[in-house]
Amino acid sequence: MSSTQQQPLHAPIDVVVMAAGKGTRMKSALPKVLHRIGGRALLQHVLDTAASLQSRKVVVITGHGADQVEAACLAEDTAQFALEFARQEPQLGTGHAVQQALPHLADDGVVLVLSGDVPLTQADTLFHLITASGGNKLALLTLDMADPTGYGRIVRGSEGSVQAIVEQKDATPEQRAIREVYSGIMAVPAASLKRWLARLDNQNAQKEYYLTDIVRFAVADGESVAAFKIGDAVQVAGVNSPVQLAQLERAYQLGVAHRLMEEGVRLADPARLDVRGDLSCAHDVSIDVNCVFMGQVNLGEGVSIGANCVIANAVIAAGAVIHPFTHIDGEKLGVTVGAGSLIGPFARLRPGARLGEEVHIGNFVEVKNSTLARGAKANHLAYLGDATVGERVNFGAGSITANYDGSNKHRTVIEADVHVGSNCVLVAPVTLGAGGTVGGGSTITKDTAPGALSVARGKQVAIANWSRPQKAPKA
Ligand code: UD1
Ligand code: MG
Repeated sequence: MSSTQQQPLHAPIDVVVMAAGKGTRMKSALPKVLHRIGGRALLQHVLDTAASLQSRKVVVITGHGADQVEAACLAEDTAQFALEFARQEPQLGTGHAVQQALPHLADDGVVLVLSGDVPLTQADTLFHLITASGGNKLALLTLDMADPTGYGRIVRGSEGSVQAIVEQKDATPEQRAIREVYSGIMAVPAASLKRWLARLDNQNAQKEYYLTDIVRFAVADGESVAAFKIGDAVQVAGVNSPVQLAQLERAYQLGVAHRLMEEGVRLADPARLDVRGDLSCAHDVSIDVNCVFMGQVNLGEGVSIGANCVIANAVIAAGAVIHPFTHIDGEKLGVTVGAGSLIGPFARLRPGARLGEEVHIGNFVEVKNSTLARGAKANHLAYLGDATVGERVNFGAGSITANYDGSNKHRTVIEADVHVGSNCVLVAPVTLGAGGTVGGGSTITKDTAPGALSVARGKQVAIANWSRPQKAPKA
């Protein structure tokens, strides 16, 4: 918790998120703010931050792809604040954008202006900015840039006070030499914002209504303008192109990797980890290079993940070892892997795979919607779909459950201690009785008796002294 969170501001926080711009340089049919970082839309990161600020309300300004952008926001859980939309058509500048939100903003709030394409601002930073505004003055988030080209410059008076923001295209050569720039993020009392926005015009190089002009109005009204300067450019970096999207993705992932390592996770290489969702880890988890985690993944104490695994929506219990190149995707049903299980290399666990303790799933084995009890093994080249597998069952190489008759799925029940030989086809619905054995190469279509050896294949025949056909002589 930051110190600012211990001294909360009394004014409610209302957030305006500008998300109407086109994002031409993305060269994409998808609205820019719906492109993803860490598996979440850029705009969603901004909404998450707004939620952690305990905002009263969030107004998203939409324009390009408005229907899609609004639908994407509504699909997420935003119960923590009132979510409203204001459309901006056409887009006449950032000041014009915020003007569209004014009917949604009560006079008693502090308005925090954010951009939907700036995803990695930390809540802490915004708390400091809001504190700098004190709830009664305009506060700007600024930073020094080695190359400030393209940004609005912070013009200060001789005594250091902020006088104006001048856009690149309107700046004099001396102003262009200023390295302190406006991040695009500000906190401003709603009542003042309304007063100042009413005075905007578009008499500037771009013929746009600039939100940044309100700084001059504040100064003209004799009000002081606060600037809160940060050093971390990633927090205010926007996404305008696929290159910038990829750069911010890496910055985001490195942040996730560092948080995991601080919690004790051993990462073979923090630069080769991708978490596109939520990964939670108990103590002594180790993760080798090039693993991708998606959705909600929980790794128990001492779990080891080999190189090049893709794991989504799964709970993996203590001590399990996931060998390299394993693909686990629980989708909506989830996957559970019991304590001490050994999975892979090259295994595939699909939705509804429920593995008990010490289950072994080896190379080229696929498990879908199946329960495997403690100690069951399928070590090579097998398919278990819609099956209930008892304790200590050994499922042989090349064997499969034929669960689909072309129209419907059926279950296979394999009771405890059954041994299924190699290359068997178990045609569902079918039950194999406890302790039974199925001979290799069998196609089992009827239930088998407990303890019995069941064999269902052509009998081996021997034709003595068989001579192979001879090659015909060349004509
Ligand atoms: C803006 C600031 C500039 C600052 C920079 C930081 C202004 C006039 N300038 O410039 O001082 O240094 O951000 O990145 O504010 N948008 C709308 N409707 C519009 C125009 C823009 O919703 O009519 C949205 C865009 O989608 C984007 C955000 O507002 O999310 C910023 O707009 P952009 O055009 O990128 O502003 P800049 O020219 O970069
Ligand atoms: Mg911009």
